[in-house]
Amino acid sequence: MKNLLKGLKSSINRRSFMKNGLTAAGAATLGAGLVASSSPVLAHGGPEERSGHLTKGDAAILRFLAAAEILETDLWQQYNELGGIQDSEVPGGSGNATYTAALAVLDADMAQYIHDNTEDELTHEVFINAYLASKGADTVNLDEFRTLLSSQASGAQQIGRLTNLMQLTVDTSWWTRYRSGTKNPDFGDIFDQAVPSLNKGQHPAIPKTDDDLTPNDHIQAIANTAGFHFGTIEQGGTSLYPSLAQRVTHPEVLRIVLSIGPTEAMHFQTWSDKAGNAPALTDPKDSMLVFPDLNSSPLGGEEFQTNLIMPEPTVFLSRKLPACSIVRPTATDGAATGALKFLTAMGLFIGQSSAFFELLRDLAEDADEARRGER
Ligand SMILES: [Fe+2]
Ligand SMILES: [Fe+2]
Repeated sequence: MKNLLKGLKSSINRRSFMKNGLTAAGAATLGAGLVASSSPVLAHGGPEERSGHLTKGDAAILRFLAAAEILETDLWQQYNELGGIQDSEVPGGSGNATYTAALAVLDADMAQYIHDNTEDELTHEVFINAYLASKGADTVNLDEFRTLLSSQASGAQQIGRLTNLMQLTVDTSWWTRYRSGTKNPDFGDIFDQAVPSLNKGQHPAIPKTDDDLTPNDHIQAIANTAGFHFGTIEQGGTSLYPSLAQRVTHPEVLRIVLSIGPTEAMHFQTWSDKAGNAPALTDPKDSMLVFPDLNSSPLGGEEFQTNLIMPEPTVFLSRKLPACSIVRPTATDGAATGALKFLTAMGLFIGQSSAFFELLRDLAEDADEARRGER
């Protein structure tokens, strides 16, 4: 597969040049050919990454999704090495028995589910890039940014990572968002957190070292954090695909997006069930981190009860229309940029370089410029 990075870097330079105007420094960054271009070309952003037989917008949407899937694979791989099943389908790592046991408190099959979610993301990543290549379009490769430290706990591979699972701020508002029968984020509504303390500060979702394996409630707090993070990540994917599908042009690209997206929803559904089994506790090594009993007063009821895992019908498109059971949000404007902000805000990229953020922003902006029906 063609490495996109080189082309994107010049695209980044071109964009910052466009923002900064025709300065001498900017002109030096540009190739002589581009400087010689007429201003209308510059105004339209100049030459872009190759789209091959795809429309520019379809290629951009697929490239952003490929990047998102590469990042998902990277984080799921870290979970699998320590708490999943390491086999020929998902190789790497040797498992951490204490962490795996703490995850199993949420469900005896957690290791299997982690393995299968990891494998799914890997296939999403590989398929989308292979499809892009098959159409003569540029693909995405983030290998240059595999620079973050691995967990030092027993069982993890020592390789460079794209994502950081040890300083997470986990937004657990999907819990009440999918239980609300009157609100929808597409209407600007906001939602209570299931675990407010996870949405503040920074928390590990995998053991950082073997010191994190004791005492029991500490490693359980880490496993609980993972349990909620799984739901947070997969509800993001569940929204991202339908949000971007609305701006895809070619029926086959639409088929890809419509066929991958619902598998994210299958993951989310499983994780939303398992997160409800996270035992109520306070982390003995971080008294600010409290997992409440979601079934008891003052919680419980329609907004918190743990077996209410099917989406509650809610307002959709217009408050004048009847309530409908739907994925939420699905607004398409700025969906890729919004997804990137969401992943960044959770601390997933803490430690990454500015070049990483520039590249991801560039991919997201290009995806958000896509318009349905464009040539
Ligand atoms: Fe995925
Ligand atoms: Fe996913």
